[in-house]
Amino acid sequence: MRVAAIGDLHVQESDVAPYRELFTEISSHADVLLLCGDLTNFGKTSEAEILAEDIKSCTIPVLGVLGNHDYECGQPEKVCEILHGAGMVVLDEQAHEIDGVGFAGVKGFLGGFGRGELAPFGEPIIKAFVDEAMKEARKLENALRTLRTERSVAVLHYSPVPGTLEGEPTEIYQYLGSQRLSEPIDRFDHVKAVVHGHAHHGTYEGRTPLGKPVYNVAQFVLRPLFGRPYALIEV
Ligand SMILES: [Fe+2]
Ligand SMILES: [Fe+2]
Repeated sequence: MRVAAIGDLHVQESDVAPYRELFTEISSHADVLLLCGDLTNFGKTSEAEILAEDIKSCTIPVLGVLGNHDYECGQPEKVCEILHGAGMVVLDEQAHEIDGVGFAGVKGFLGGFGRGELAPFGEPIIKAFVDEAMKEARKLENALRTLRTERSVAVLHYSPVPGTLEGEPTEIYQYLGSQRLSEPIDRFDHVKAVVHGHAHHGTYEGRTPLGKPVYNVAQFVLRPLFGRPYALIEV
């Protein structure tokens, strides 16, 4: 299966059919399109409606997750509803299967890596923060557990590994992802690839601790690398 993936679309109110041509092009090169969050710039319904129109021009299945920007207006469920109405499968807890390949996804959360990982210690607000990261990892694990396919792809907005963040200032790594997300990925053999966005200045390829490929598909990473804003991955 040829999987196309793109993150960080950041559709704005002033955009006119920003992804229509691209989605038509992708439809002729791939079997599935994955959208890795920050689909809108501020999580406005008007932005989601503009993207929804473009999604309708896709002739292949479109699946994806929301990003932090899609939460900015405090109505992520409305953004989901509009995109779902255009035919997109918004992954969250519930996995999806297409032609024998599984797809499981969550937005994910931040929290850091290695020595920089925030621990659930002390003030309640710190524990609540870490709890959110754990909750997202648990949702991903639950979704992956339901899959009975031999191959699957994990779809995220935040990064599960530090490798794809190289190029970003190390001071902000803890805001770009959480290593807690890599634990469920490495637990299931059927996960063959991971895609995420969010790190606009990161690196395309990284690995989980057990060596699974992780791709940062933020369009700003892909454009200079491939001359196109999306990645093509064989699964
Ligand atoms: Fe972004
Ligand atoms: Fe983001």
